[in-house]
Amino acid sequence: MKAIRIHAFGGPEVLQLEEVARPVPAADEILVKVYASGVNPVDRVVREGSSAALKYALTLPMTLGWDAAGVVEAVGREVTGFQLGDAVYGVPNFPGNGSYAEYCAALASRFALKPKCLSFTEAAAVPLAGLTAWTALFKFGKLQPGQRILIQGASGGVGGLAVQFAKAKGAYVIGTTSAGELDYLRQLGADEVMDYRSQKVEDLARDVDLVLEASSVRDNAERVKAITVLKKGGIFVSVNTDFAFDEAVHTALTQKGATGELSANQPRQEWLAEMAQLIDAGRVQVLVGRVFPLVQVAEAHRESPTGHVRGKLVLEVRKDDELA
Ligand SMILES: NC(=O)c1ccc[n+]([C@@H]2O[C@H](COP(=O)([O-])OP(=O)(O)OC[C@H]3O[C@@H](n4cnc5c(N)ncnc54)[C@H](OP(=O)(O)O)[C@@H]3O)[C@@H](O)[C@H]2O)c1
Repeated sequence: MKAIRIHAFGGPEVLQLEEVARPVPAADEILVKVYASGVNPVDRVVREGSSAALKYALTLPMTLGWDAAGVVEAVGREVTGFQLGDAVYGVPNFPGNGSYAEYCAALASRFALKPKCLSFTEAAAVPLAGLTAWTALFKFGKLQPGQRILIQGASGGVGGLAVQFAKAKGAYVIGTTSAGELDYLRQLGADEVMDYRSQKVEDLARDVDLVLEASSVRDNAERVKAITVLKKGGIFVSVNTDFAFDEAVHTALTQKGATGELSANQPRQEWLAEMAQLIDAGRVQVLVGRVFPLVQVAEAHRESPTGHVRGKLVLEVRKDDELA
């Protein structure tokens, strides 16, 4: 099968198209015939080897890609709940070989039936960003109907889904983004929108139960400002787990009687299934920014690190209408 692999850490040029053996699923895994693979910021981090904490867990050569949509081609002997031919979406094993490939073997528990109303290309845009948003909102953020939430980076891959999940659960959503994305953010359902460049959120928002840092920014001074909008006893959740809270953030949290959490996404099948229901019910829209053929993966990686991409970048591995 064809796969995009790296043999060394580095720039987009280390991404190589190769012919490799099709993986064999373990007892608790499924083999997915991949139709599309999402491209996420973590793909660049892995490609560069820029995270010391992560690098030790990676084995080269490896296949990148941790967002997949495709069809079940084989199931391990312990797997229940999936049939051959099921259309699925999910997050390939991490660390491990990913979905920039024609086939991918992954734990069955990291996949669910894909939303019926989405193409494979659209479905591949959801799992990683969706699980990141879901884990942050509901596991660490404990978001309840009627609560007020401030979402920073609300038009991004993670933030855009977080806005819609929070609205679907009955929260009041304030979102920050850049000026050109304000209308888009309103379309996603945000109740209030703010331009992070020209407006001071800390002066405009207040009585917030939960702040979700879903932007690509790593700046503890910005976190301290955001914590000031929390109610006493509120929660500040950041998905930027690679950037620790400093002393000033801890002090700001203590002064508010607030909790701070760094939220890593949890690959839970039941959450993927719940997201699929919301999407099929028309309550969550999925926006694909750009689709690249698998062979143009380097171009997708050059676009991804900008941090200002509307909608997800997706690699098309097979045409949607190719027979399963
Ligand atoms: N914890 C996890 O498991 C996990 C998983 C996936 C991703 N992540 C992290 O989540 C973050 C978002 O990922 P993503 O895929 O959603 O990225 P993305 O699609 O590139 O979105 C980034 C967002 O950040 C906003 N932004 C950029 N500069 C900003 C600034 N100075 N102030 C405020 N907002 C700013 C962008 O808004 P504009 O375009 O309007 O400027 C955009 O909405 C990344 O840092 C990523 O590393 C964490």
